[in-house]
Parts: sequence; C-alpha cells; structure tokens
Amino acid sequence: MTDDVVRIDGQRLWASLGELARIGAYVDERTGLTGVNRQALTDEEAEGRRLVAQWFRDAGLAVRVDRIGNVYARREGSDPDLAPVLMGSHIDSVATAGAFDGCLGVLGGLEVLRTFDDLGVVTTRPVEVAFFTEEEGARFGVDMLGSAVAVGRIALADALALTDRSGVSLGDELVRHGFDGPEPERAAPPHAYVECHIEQGPVLAAEGLQVGVVTGVQGISWQEVTIDGRAAHAGTTPTQLRVDAGLAASHVVVRLREMAESGEFGALRATVGEMRFAPGLTNIVPTRAVLTVDLRNPDDDAMARAEDALDAYLHELEERWPGLAVSVRRMARTRHVPFDPEVQKAVATAADDLDLSHRSLLSGAGHDAQELASVCPTAMVFVPGLYDGISHNPREYSTPEACADGISVLATVVRRLAG
Ligand code: GLV
Ligand code: MN
Ligand code: MN
Repeated sequence: MTDDVVRIDGQRLWASLGELARIGAYVDERTGLTGVNRQALTDEEAEGRRLVAQWFRDAGLAVRVDRIGNVYARREGSDPDLAPVLMGSHIDSVATAGAFDGCLGVLGGLEVLRTFDDLGVVTTRPVEVAFFTEEEGARFGVDMLGSAVAVGRIALADALALTDRSGVSLGDELVRHGFDGPEPERAAPPHAYVECHIEQGPVLAAEGLQVGVVTGVQGISWQEVTIDGRAAHAGTTPTQLRVDAGLAASHVVVRLREMAESGEFGALRATVGEMRFAPGLTNIVPTRAVLTVDLRNPDDDAMARAEDALDAYLHELEERWPGLAVSVRRMARTRHVPFDPEVQKAVATAADDLDLSHRSLLSGAGHDAQELASVCPTAMVFVPGLYDGISHNPREYSTPEACADGISVLATVVRRLAG
C-alpha cells in the first residue's frame, strides 16, 4: 500500500446518508418499507438542498450556485489558479427511491473533503463537489439536465422553460426556492471529474466484488408517444367500429418487448413505464393514450435502428386502424459515452491499493458523469447494491462497508488527481 491512500470515515458518511434520507421519506403502502420521494425542486428537494449546502459550509467549503441551480462547494488548493478536480452527483430522486442513488456521490464527495481536513491533506489543485439539478428527469422529463446545461449540451433557456405535469416551470421553481444562482451555468472545464454511485444492478454483488470501475454509460432514448383514437360507448359500440387508443398503446408495449428479445437490436432494453388513458373511465373506449418509451443500448447504431423500427411500427398501427393518429415527442437522447481510460486506470489502481476486489463494467443507468465526460477526463466508481441491485425503489440498499470502500477509492483517486 502506498502512503497517499485515503480511508474515509464510514460511520460519518453513513450518518449523513441516513439524515438526508429523512427528507422526502415516505412509507410504501404495499411493502411498509420507507423510501424517498425527493423530486427535483419540490419543497422536499429544496429542504435537502439547504441541508447539504449547510453541511458544505460547515465543512469550510465555499459554496456557489449557478443559473440552473447546480450547487458547487470548493476546497482550495495550494495553486488556486489550476482547474479543480470535481466530484459530484445528484440529490433529487425518482418518486419511489432509496437513500443511495446520487446521494452517495454527493455526500461521499463531502466526506472526502472532510477527511482531507482531518488528515491535513494539502492538494495542489482545488477540489470541488457538486450536486446537479434534475438528474433523474422524474419531474421535468429530461434526465441529467443540470449537468447537461453545465457542459453546454442543453441551452439554459430551454431547461428553464421545461414544465412538470401540472405546468409549473423549472425556472419558476428555482426562483421560488432561491436556487436561481448568479453563477454562469457554463463552468470552466474541471481538470477531471470522478463520481461514485451505487451500481443499481446485480453484477458486483453476484460476483462478490467490492468495487466497479465504470467504463462508460450506454445510450438512452426517451420518447413520449401520444395515440389518438375515437371515444366510444363500451356497451353499444361493435368491436369492428372501434378506434381504440388503449389497444394500440398495448400493442406498442408488446412490440417493444419483442424487439428487446429479438436480438436484432443488440442489447436493447425497452420499457414503457408510464401509460395514461383518456378519458380513463370504465365504460368508454379510450380516445387517447399517452405512454413513455425508455430505450437503452450500448450500441449507437443498434439504438438508431430500434428507434426507426419503433417509428415504422407506429405507422403500421395508423394503417391498421384508420382514424388512429400517432405523434411522438422526443424527451431525452444521449449516445453511448465511453469514460477516460486513464481515470479508469486510476480508479482500478486505487482499489488495488486499498485491497479491494474490482472489475470493469458499463453503466446501465444514466449519470451526471456522462455529461462531464464531454468537457474533461471522467470516470466513475460503483459500489455493489443488495437484493439483485434493485434501485429506483425503497429496497435499494448498500452496506456501510461497501459505501465506505467506494468513497475511499474516490478519495484516493481525487487526492492523486489533485496532486
Ligand atoms: C437514471 O437514473 C436513469 O434513468 O438511468
Ligand atoms: Mn443516480
Ligand atoms: Mn436514478
């Protein structure tokens, strides 16, 4: 072991994770488990933002907020003119979350800086930790939003104009909560970006490994499909006379599953996670169906072919049922993002130096890191999750030891990158 290896305080990290998880906590009616619902820029998330920002200040960090509400905290280096090493993730959640997704990267980053203070570590470069706005896309429909704005992939004005299901704009919510910061949203590129995250999948735990070295993130395609048919009385309208939007939507669900299982589109994963019928009444044939389509694929060509095939199928449905009209709204789209080989190597080396078993793996989930990767060398550290790696669910769980191991890897990598 080399003497620049850093071991963080696992108990302090665990306590922070537990305290943040109380904000937005709810009890899942079906299972009785406590989960987290802290969607971006709700009252709950704003409370979480204020708590974490206060923890940043308590740790002596300089806090700044940019125009999309991303919050950065900075520990100065001996050469403050050098670009910082950045850590980060998100504290917003889906409606049915656990305590780890995103929060581990943010509170882990804070724990790294607390540990540097405890150990009297002086880095040459500044080190920063950030939490980014609306990573989940759960409220405003675009994932990795704050980090995408920070790197210039999405324009600030477009992001501010996004609305949630009840028509409230993201810009108004930033103002309401006082997180419409003064800092420019396009930060100068960091020296490097490293994010620690729960794996959200089964691989590491199944193989009994302690750390994942993330090679990149697969492509993500989100679309909202609206199918307009014709409302009709459920009892009096003969089957042959119906233009049933609900039936067409159900065909889409089945077709997507067939596509994913066909092998024709590489390792495609396809999910319809939301489907709403209008008028949504027992005795009326649906006049409209609105469904979301989430496609994931590590292969960009296969992803494009899958999108084309879905498009062709939607046209087929229109031909099959005259009077049916289908329209598609693009919500979000990212390509496969490979991470920097050198930063990956630094993660693997740090794991070795900490005597932690590890393997490389591609991320199935989207992360802020994939946005930062467009402006600086980037990689991620995964920690194993229990229960088949279930995530976006109250059962999401990693152990205190696993979290401490992952954040110790993060601390060691960041210390080395920061000089
Ligand atoms: C982010 O959590 C995703 O949906 O991949
Ligand atoms: Mn996440
Ligand atoms: Mn998530």
